[in-house]
Amino acid sequence: MGYKIAFVSQKGGVSKSTLSRALGTTYAAAGWNVKIADLDINQSTSFTWLQRRLKNGVTPEVAVETFGTVASALKVADTYDLMIFDGAPHATKATAEVARLADLVVLPTALSVDDLEPTVRLANNLTSKEGVPVERIAIALSKVGKSKAQLQDARAYLSHTPYFVLDGQVPERDAFVLAQDKGLSIVETPFKGPKAQADELIQNIINRFETLVQSA
Ligand SMILES: Nc1ncnc2c1ncn2[C@@H]1O[C@H](COP(=O)(O)OP(=O)(O)O)[C@@H](O)[C@H]1O
Ligand SMILES: [Mg+2]
Repeated sequence: MGYKIAFVSQKGGVSKSTLSRALGTTYAAAGWNVKIADLDINQSTSFTWLQRRLKNGVTPEVAVETFGTVASALKVADTYDLMIFDGAPHATKATAEVARLADLVVLPTALSVDDLEPTVRLANNLTSKEGVPVERIAIALSKVGKSKAQLQDARAYLSHTPYFVLDGQVPERDAFVLAQDKGLSIVETPFKGPKAQADELIQNIINRFETLVQSA
């Protein structure tokens, strides 16, 4: 059976697609047969990112496909080592569906209270209403500003929740926008500082996934 990792959120624009692509290209570079299932049927931003990637001849190849329903993605999931669900713009029925079936559910969030509160509310819904095991949820800090105090406050707030908070965070950087504009993922940016930070968060997602899979 193919493994499944889902990126979901309550709010739009929190980096679900950005992190899906980074995880996808990292696994593809390691030789895994990966598919990114883009569940954003209206904008299909990961699919259009793939078109830029192909046009620019970027390797490794990574498969991206837009799926109208989670069920249609599931039909082909087992033909891949790993399917990465790039969630719908905000929480929908599909969000609960993918969260229930994924081996790991990543909730990306920025640091403001406006971002953190809906993130925790979604995690609470997924665990208490949808039956997603608490340990399968991981919160990823993304689009992080320069303030150390803000980062500390956000981590302190999240430490009072039952959820696993990933070490490392992706800063908000033009280098990442530039990379994705060219069909690269954020771990493929030529800028070393930003790349190291993106790599660290992605590696910690992989570590958490491996821990969960090994204990299953
Ligand atoms: N770390 C970052 N630094 C700068 N821009 C970012 C970063 N992460 C995401 N973005 C930008 O923010 C926007 C939303 O990101 P995206 O990954 O598409 O979010 P989602 O899929 O959750 O809606 C995109 O334009 C993307 O390029
Ligand atoms: Mg998206």
